[in-house]
Amino acid sequence: MDKIHSLTGMIDLVGQKTDKIQIANRIFFTEKILRSIFKNYSLLEIRTPALEDESLFKRSVGDSSDIVNKELYSFLDKNEKRIVLRPEGTAGVIRSIIEKKTDGDTHKLWYLGPMWRYERPQKGRFRQFYQAGVEILGYKEGIAELEMISLICSINKALDVKNPVVKINHLGNKDCKKRFCNDLLDYLKPMSADLEKKDLERLTKNPLRILDSKSSETQNILKDAPVIVDYLPQESKDLLELIKDMFSDECNIKIDYKLVRGLDYYTGFVFEAISQELGAQDAYLGGGRYDELCSQLGGKHLPAIGMAIGIERLASLVNKLENNKTLISFIILSSKIEQKAYKIAQNLRLLNNKINLDIQLSEGSLKSKLRRASKDNASYALIIGEEELKSDTVVVKPLLDKNSEQSSMNLNELYDFIKSLT
Ligand code: HAM
Repeated sequence: MDKIHSLTGMIDLVGQKTDKIQIANRIFFTEKILRSIFKNYSLLEIRTPALEDESLFKRSVGDSSDIVNKELYSFLDKNEKRIVLRPEGTAGVIRSIIEKKTDGDTHKLWYLGPMWRYERPQKGRFRQFYQAGVEILGYKEGIAELEMISLICSINKALDVKNPVVKINHLGNKDCKKRFCNDLLDYLKPMSADLEKKDLERLTKNPLRILDSKSSETQNILKDAPVIVDYLPQESKDLLELIKDMFSDECNIKIDYKLVRGLDYYTGFVFEAISQELGAQDAYLGGGRYDELCSQLGGKHLPAIGMAIGIERLASLVNKLENNKTLISFIILSSKIEQKAYKIAQNLRLLNNKINLDIQLSEGSLKSKLRRASKDNASYALIIGEEELKSDTVVVKPLLDKNSEQSSMNLNELYDFIKSLT
């Protein structure tokens, strides 16, 4: 029979007791810390469906983006309706706000879940990956921008992220964006024969995106091109300077006038956090202001700013590890005493929630169970057999300190001992 494999670019995440550098453990720990930071910023959780109508992303993320152009997981459902697996979370959040007619209110939201993009898998790039996102809705440019950068600084600090750089830019208002794009087009027209097909397409769909081109030829041509900073209103430049001044003691912040984002909905302030440790796919989060999206999708005018974190990428940069609780391996030597011994184990769990108690459920010799307890990095093995149960005692064997001897404790002594563990 043919073996069944996971799909290309999709990975299983399985938690491990000991291997602390293993990616699944890092991811789960990262998610836990992010949740607590989101709470600290008084954000509320929102969960939207993984499946959405394809047109939602065509009308939001945009036709000029790779995400919609090439990477959508799209199919017809049984009703011949075109459905996609969401490639990002922002569009679904706005759809939900409009549908619930709360697009006239303010919202501070977070979400965490899988996203799908049919990309060429490589280091840091998956077809199914996890994003944690934040969307702050109903607030004009100003304090919400500060809140976003403050959040990024808090995340970097809480997880001790390796070599983070936060790049910021401003795409200006409608008028300056239009003037800049016109001048950029005028500059590039005579050289259009030298541009790659993909960049030519960008020129017609969203000229700003050409600044993002990976082609060295295009980047060469762009060297003398108009730069957005010359078109920005003073208040946009002031905002960038203010953010740099306010947060430079917490984060390494760089103004990068070439930063444009790969999605069409951005309108003003944009940012990305990168780390050189990540290699080619160096952005572990990105976002910006998108004041037009809600009205573009049929809702009211709702000023908005948001960001999404690539969990796999962020987790690989985390320098801190979870302080694991004391692990106790509970070994029952005979199936005849299973129920009574189980009751003791359960009492121990209730006595101290700072311990992790692992009842070894498998059959096998004492030797093999002790071996497994050591492999799991357990601090103690508690061993209970028929003899012990008769005399209400348990053998306590320290596993980390090789010089400590095992001892026999009666149940009261055992309960006091467990209570004393931190
Ligand atoms: P994005 O830049 O497309 O923005 O994605 C955000 C982050 O998701 C990236 O910086 C990266 O870390 C991660 N990411 C993207 N694609 C992959 C992949 N194939 N494999 C692994 N990680 C990946 C957005 O998605 C916007 N919705 C962000 C936003 C929210 N803007 C406003 N609100």
